[in-house]
Amino acid sequence: MPVTDARRPIALAPVTGCLLLSLFMSACGGGSGDGEGREEPVMPAGPVVTDPDVTDPDVTGSGPLPDPPLTAPPSADDEPIAEGADFHTASGFVVVRDPRAFPQAAAVVALAETDFAAGLPAAVVERPADVDPTLNRPPFFEGLDNVRTVAGQAVQLRFVPRDPEGELPGMFAQRLPEGASFDDNFDGTKSLNWQPLQADVGVTAFTVVALDPADSRYRISQTVLIAVDAPVDPASVPNVAPRVGEVPGYVVRVGDPVVVEIEGVDRNGTVPVLELPDPPAGATFLPRPFEAERFVLRFVPDTVGVQTIEVLARDAVDLSLTGSGRIVLDVRERATFERAGSRLRTLAAARGIEIGSAVSPFFYRQADGALYADIVGEEFGIMTHESGMKMDAIVPRPGHYAFADTDNLMRFARSRGMTVRGHPLVWHRQLPDWVLQSAPDTREGHMREFIARIVTRYADEVQHWDVVNEPIAEDGGGGLRSTVWSEAMGERYIDVAFRQARALDPDATLVLNEYDIGYDGPKWDGLLALLDRLIARGVPVDAVGFQMHVFASYDRFDELAAHMAAVAARGLDVHVTEFDVALSDGTGTAEQTEVYRRVAQVCLAQPRCTVLQTWGFTDRYSFRRFFDPLPFDRDYRPKGAYTALQEALDIGG
Ligand code: XIL
Repeated sequence: MPVTDARRPIALAPVTGCLLLSLFMSACGGGSGDGEGREEPVMPAGPVVTDPDVTDPDVTGSGPLPDPPLTAPPSADDEPIAEGADFHTASGFVVVRDPRAFPQAAAVVALAETDFAAGLPAAVVERPADVDPTLNRPPFFEGLDNVRTVAGQAVQLRFVPRDPEGELPGMFAQRLPEGASFDDNFDGTKSLNWQPLQADVGVTAFTVVALDPADSRYRISQTVLIAVDAPVDPASVPNVAPRVGEVPGYVVRVGDPVVVEIEGVDRNGTVPVLELPDPPAGATFLPRPFEAERFVLRFVPDTVGVQTIEVLARDAVDLSLTGSGRIVLDVRERATFERAGSRLRTLAAARGIEIGSAVSPFFYRQADGALYADIVGEEFGIMTHESGMKMDAIVPRPGHYAFADTDNLMRFARSRGMTVRGHPLVWHRQLPDWVLQSAPDTREGHMREFIARIVTRYADEVQHWDVVNEPIAEDGGGGLRSTVWSEAMGERYIDVAFRQARALDPDATLVLNEYDIGYDGPKWDGLLALLDRLIARGVPVDAVGFQMHVFASYDRFDELAAHMAAVAARGLDVHVTEFDVALSDGTGTAEQTEVYRRVAQVCLAQPRCTVLQTWGFTDRYSFRRFFDPLPFDRDYRPKGAYTALQEALDIGG
């Protein structure tokens, strides 16, 4: 039964004054000297925000920020700079890059000598609940210890699995170190054979899993640490040929700019030079700034068909030592990617809702970036950055900001007349290690500093903020999830975050976002109870975000409608924030199509459901890509789900 809502006003998606201006006059935002006329963002110094609503800061925790702040505010050294067109496929906006190398990589905690000195790590046992460990004891490895060696020397490490019940356990290795092999000795044992070289100096973890002979679900993971010392005489280490990193194949559109990033790897720790023996006409092939081992090929394919481009890596010391690789592009006619009917954003605007998609970070650095950008810009009026606004991406180290990725998304949004959902200000995942390891009594400061800096920077472009993401516990009780934030502040962290967001961006919609609330159960009950407590405390929540990561077997449309109505009855908006429909056993695209249609209809039937957003649009880049959950397939062709959205959004659909 089609559901329609004749009462919904026909309106264009609202935009903030600044955004509207910026579309025509380049009047808003940050940036530096790139010709777009953006101004330097002004970061607040000292006390960042005082909440005008709050009279008792001890109760609400919304007093001023620590003064001086706990971490340094962004400085001129953090400001992204314009990147040349040779490195991306973007059109219509100037791409920027961070002014420093690899800010994210710096956040990765490497293994250290102290880890090695602590001895062989304990095995991690994975035991199914129905296995009694007194009757069936887990397998183990005999005679293992951490190993120390010197770069250039071959290591052999034999894994001898045993089972207390006497049978022979099976085993497999997890990720092998570069250049290593894990070989069968045909006597029930296997050996790691590895000759570490200069690039391997340091401590490396190698993990082997042993399977219980009676039940392969019952297993242990045993890690061995291998410490590789630098050689006294570097000349004693053999010089090996470099290799060309693997590149996935891409489907691209004829006539579009294509970029392909390709990496040269040399375990001797030198940087190989990459060459194209037979470059495509008009190609540039340049090392990416700060990343000499990573080259970018850019050209515009002008003929349809599969194009294979050979790549050579030449050793930096011995030019006769080479490795090779290839780039394969499937170049298709432009017409292949055209869609029948009207665009989703046009249809949605006519129904008074915003339709959106999450957008992958760095799409403009991928071969198919031009096609990706066009589909996003044509189909969707609003977007969310899939990961780039998360705290680990933006503040990999205290006081060290990486804004380029998010700035680029804002620039892209402006260039396509799109608005932005900011996601997420406060979440328990994708946090930098330094926050996870911070003292609990400093966390409120860290949370507030992050909110202050991000909201201040992007308030002009962002219309809706997912202020708190996934607050409810997964244990089936519907209580508050235990996180670094709740451990430090209890439920109050939610109040603080919303009040602060409101003070910084009074016009934005502030959203409480949660998953698995599209059907009855403790999660929904818990969320509603939390919402009522927040409302009772006067916390400025404007909308509830229903993530809607569901399966094609989902059929709780009545419960979804009732939950949306419950939110609406409290005077709040509803956003469908991360919709995707995974194919699972026993379901196919027909069921998937129906779920898209019905969820869109439920949203359209609820006057307060104002945003319908899918979590990406092509199965190629879905975070659930193994389940093909999105409205476009891996080759950018519209699926039944796309047509269902068109039909549902069409007046009378
Ligand atoms: C996911 C992204 O899609 C992935 O690319 C990333 O690796 C992990 O996070 N709920 C959320 C989103 O609120 O932020 C998550 O996004 C998906 C689940």
